[in-house]
Amino acid sequence: MSDKPVVCVLVPLEDDLLAQIQAKCEVRVLPYTTPRPELLTALGDVEGVLVSPRIPADAAFFDAAPKLRVLSTHSVGYDPFDIPSATEHGVVVCNTPGVLTAAVANLTMALILNLTLHLRDNEAFVRSGGWARREPAPPLGHDIQGRTLGVIGFGRIGQEVTQRMQALGVKTLWYDVFDTPHPDAPESTYRPLDDLLAESDFVSMHTNLDATSRHMIGSDQLARMKSTAYLINTARGGLVDQVALTAALRDGQIAGAALDVLESEPPLEDDPVYTLPNVICFPHIGTATEETRRLMRELAVRNLLAVMAGEMPPTPVNPEALDGRP
Ligand code: DGY
Repeated sequence: MSDKPVVCVLVPLEDDLLAQIQAKCEVRVLPYTTPRPELLTALGDVEGVLVSPRIPADAAFFDAAPKLRVLSTHSVGYDPFDIPSATEHGVVVCNTPGVLTAAVANLTMALILNLTLHLRDNEAFVRSGGWARREPAPPLGHDIQGRTLGVIGFGRIGQEVTQRMQALGVKTLWYDVFDTPHPDAPESTYRPLDDLLAESDFVSMHTNLDATSRHMIGSDQLARMKSTAYLINTARGGLVDQVALTAALRDGQIAGAALDVLESEPPLEDDPVYTLPNVICFPHIGTATEETRRLMRELAVRNLLAVMAGEMPPTPVNPEALDGRP
């Protein structure tokens, strides 16, 4: 029997990354679709898991894994994992911030431009033969310069979006639970949430999902937005009350939305939100480039192996879980 620690890999990994783990650990590869009871049974002797947000971890998960030391996710979001319970169980949760900032900021910018320039409608006009048949073109778009962007969540991604949109001549506002920005943050104007909502032409979500931020945008907040304004969400669907958003979009209370994330992913087939004419919707592709996904997997493996080696991992969410460890 091997004396290497047992690690469970629940995400597809390139051979070279798998080999890095195999050099130090006994690796058990399981599909992320492994039925829950089977997964919990498999965790009995496991000291590390490599997961994605598709594999939630609650107290029952940690109870089933008494030897677990690290849960390493290849995502920046860690909302599917019960962090207090992980800490109580002495499990350090590690995520992958930083390496995906540019990818998410790029998508956010692309969505804003898509909305202002009516790219989706114009492409459909050509594809459906409307241009060839000399039919009337879709309505004109709008210039982006001089518009106001309200960024909710002024962390890495919110700051990068701010910088990019400023380069296009956009005026930027920000809101967060703190009101003193990070010293390296770009110059931008702080506004309380209600004021940001009322002043912005685009409201873009870049904050974590947790019990305090769930549904932070509901019917009251949507009612504060301009009727010409757009909501962009590339963060987490649960930040926005989707029933309230659907009603606001249907009633023309706001002009439209660009959604890369939904409250339920994938959505129910009869969910109206993704078929509304004033919505563009994408299947959670904020980090979906070959290069960024590779960097995320590399960082997730580094986090896992650092904890296995008794070292501080590069990007822990709850480093306090390691307190008292040898
Ligand atoms: C993240 O990294 O959190 C992305 O949303 C992918 O889950």
